[in-house]
Amino acid sequence: MVKVEDLVLPGVAALHPYEPGKPIEEVERELGIHAAVKLASNENPLGPSPKALEAVTRALPELNRYPDGGAWALRHKIAAHHRVGPDQVFVASGSVEVLNLLAFLFLRPGLNAVFPEHCFAIYPLATAAAGGEGRAVAVRDGFYFDLDRVAEAIDANTRIVFLDNPNNPTGTIFRRAEWERFLARVPEHVVVVADEAYFEFVRDPDYPDSLRYHDGRRLIVTMRTFSKIFGLAGLRVGYAISSAAIVTLLNKVRQPFNVTSLGQIAAIAGMDDAEHVRRTLEVNARGIDYLEAEFRRLGLAFVPTHANFILVDVGDGQAMFEKLMRAGVVVRPMGGYNFPRHVRISVGTESENRRLIEALEKLI
Ligand SMILES: Cc1ncc(COP(=O)(O)O)c(C=O)c1O
Repeated sequence: MVKVEDLVLPGVAALHPYEPGKPIEEVERELGIHAAVKLASNENPLGPSPKALEAVTRALPELNRYPDGGAWALRHKIAAHHRVGPDQVFVASGSVEVLNLLAFLFLRPGLNAVFPEHCFAIYPLATAAAGGEGRAVAVRDGFYFDLDRVAEAIDANTRIVFLDNPNNPTGTIFRRAEWERFLARVPEHVVVVADEAYFEFVRDPDYPDSLRYHDGRRLIVTMRTFSKIFGLAGLRVGYAISSAAIVTLLNKVRQPFNVTSLGQIAAIAGMDDAEHVRRTLEVNARGIDYLEAEFRRLGLAFVPTHANFILVDVGDGQAMFEKLMRAGVVVRPMGGYNFPRHVRISVGTESENRRLIEALEKLI
């Protein structure tokens, strides 16, 4: 009997599927508990924008129709918002779809993608799935991207550099001077993917907005998502901004109706809900101040964050994850990211954060 694993690209059979945060219903069912708190997937703890909910409810009777395959209205709204051409915007089923399509387009056996160690887990996965070689570059001081080293790892066979800023799971950023020095060294055959899923949360004045560097001299893809600040993770909408040529290539290989009608409608309404964005930022900023102060009080080392989650050293991440889960608080163990001592904790509402700290204090 033929082994199906032998029929696919080398390396694919050895991959481990992406392991998402545990769904709350599953935890409650398994442990027989109620009212568990999920701080595991960097979601918006306030829920979706009320305006998006209203728009989705109004659109429900039209679910027999296919969505607009070109996402015309959303694409034009995003283009106007960022002052780019609509032909430079690619709307996707979550920004993860963009990562997979870029790997599919630009990588194959013999070519490689470069990314820092401890980066978002999809980069090595998408690279290997396309048959490319993934080059993980050592970080600085255990947690910080070193873009000089990333530039040094690029060679003639490199086609993509993946950089998330802020990085998931460390919450760290790289700053303007380092980014500009890096860009000056990137050869023109390399696509630089600036994954800015947490862009809106950053308050640092030296944080570079990669959109300002689309000057036609290098291949840059900026990625943003509706899953985080807009609270629409369940509807799967993200987007990329790049040159019209790269967007055309992405359109050639995507599935025809990649973004659902409800996703498109909710994203459009969410973009108009400035009050929901403002409240989300306020709750997140207050949550970070509270959690970081409490981690200090409890003597737990953590990485100061620029996003909506915090990487915390709890000694044994997997054991603490399991204990916290039994106490009704779901966080994310980070062994898969090569941080066996850490858990990643998403910032929740005030009461959710308090429940986490109370549980943690009893367990350490
Ligand atoms: C760095 C980073 N990029 C992309 C994504 C994917 O977001 P989406 O829901 O848009 O696929 C995430 C989600 O956690 C992320 O952390």
